[in-house]
Amino acid sequence: MAQLWGGRFTKETDQLVYNFNASITFDQKFYKQDIEGSIAHVKMLGKQGILTEQEMNDIVKTLQEILSEVEAGTLEISTEYEDIHSFVEAKLIERLGDTGKKLHTGRSRNDQVALDMRLFTREAVKDTDALLKELLETILHIMEENTETIMPGFTHLQKAQPITLAHHMGAYFEMFKRDRLRLHDIYERMNYCPLGSGALAGTTYPLDRDYTAELLGFYGPTLNSMDGVSDRDYLIEYLSACSMIMMHLSRFSEEVIIWNSNEYQFVEIDDAYSTGSSIMPQKKNPDIAELVRGKTGRVYGALTSLLTTMKGIPLAYNKDMQEDKELSFDAMDTVKGCIALFNGMLATMKFNKDIMRSSANNGFTNATDAADYLVNHGVPFRDAHGIVGQIVLYCIEKGIAIDDMSLEELKAISPVFEEDIYDAISMETCVNKRLTIGAPGKDAMEQVIALEKEYLNQ
Ligand code: ARG
Repeated sequence: MAQLWGGRFTKETDQLVYNFNASITFDQKFYKQDIEGSIAHVKMLGKQGILTEQEMNDIVKTLQEILSEVEAGTLEISTEYEDIHSFVEAKLIERLGDTGKKLHTGRSRNDQVALDMRLFTREAVKDTDALLKELLETILHIMEENTETIMPGFTHLQKAQPITLAHHMGAYFEMFKRDRLRLHDIYERMNYCPLGSGALAGTTYPLDRDYTAELLGFYGPTLNSMDGVSDRDYLIEYLSACSMIMMHLSRFSEEVIIWNSNEYQFVEIDDAYSTGSSIMPQKKNPDIAELVRGKTGRVYGALTSLLTTMKGIPLAYNKDMQEDKELSFDAMDTVKGCIALFNGMLATMKFNKDIMRSSANNGFTNATDAADYLVNHGVPFRDAHGIVGQIVLYCIEKGIAIDDMSLEELKAISPVFEEDIYDAISMETCVNKRLTIGAPGKDAMEQVIALEKEYLNQ
């Protein structure tokens, strides 16, 4: 047991209590942020004359050594310490004696841990954003190559109208683009430094909080010390953005699973991203997509868990807040891993364009356009809808597509039809006539692709 606070106690802590209370097994994950925060704190103490220049230099140098040794694996973070803060301070004191004991001047573990968690989350926000950008690049590439790849668009998982693969991919582009915007918003709100908040009420030392904030790349200090130590909103926002990312990835995974099924065969997942069955030799399973879909639950779980933890906490710091870490760390790793793996799977996935095309041909996806043809020839829409309904029924009975009907057959149902109906309901016409921005028509898609390219190059 190695604690920082034995002074007012007359008895050893019960071992089970100690274990229950300790956080080193998980908060060692932010040793780097902890040391960097301490270095900034000490530089500020030196600048303010609270530490001498010599003391400042000695502490900074030794902290840097501790950091590189931990990084190189030559200094092991031992779990005999209560938390990462105690470990770093103990190592410093071991090496510097009394000077090391001055590190914690004007600071509490409450503002220290608030800073560490914020720095760690800020890194996670940036990493997640960078991974999303790579995913968007993959999606945009598929879009550029597939503005003419016709496939059925679905509603209720029933074939609805023809679209293109570029258009379908474009929907996911929008989702992940919004996810990035959310991360940027969160960054803007969270990038303020809580260090200097002390235990809850600031400190009596003449700290320069602006300076510490600047050294750590923050926009400035947080403006209320009680909030500074007990705010975890930024983490909840991040977990909420992660939940949304996972929801999008999960929807996309669901489509990949359906498209990869024997019945659809719209895509083939690369061997490197598929798995086999231990008993059925013919199987090639979309496990990556299924796992991404499955892991969505645990990210939602982290969000719900932290929201619930925070809802009953009076100001300011309470130990409940130590529970902000384990599930958040898990969620961060999960989201980052899922984006990267999904991206790899998508980039190597083969699209069976012929199968997509014939699926669109054979699902009455041009029925709306047949009705629009009639409308353009003076038939009121509701009547046109009824006429095309009869045509579809006729086709279902004969096992053919609308395009397969002869002009005589069509005219028998409505005399309005003429030879130009075939062109009007061809898949190409159905897609390329949809030209308003956001629609699948090639020209509209190309405009959108140009805008998205510009966005990615920003
Ligand atoms: N391990 C603690 C946490 O994660 C650090 C802060 C401890 N502060 C305290 N007053 N016990 O929240």
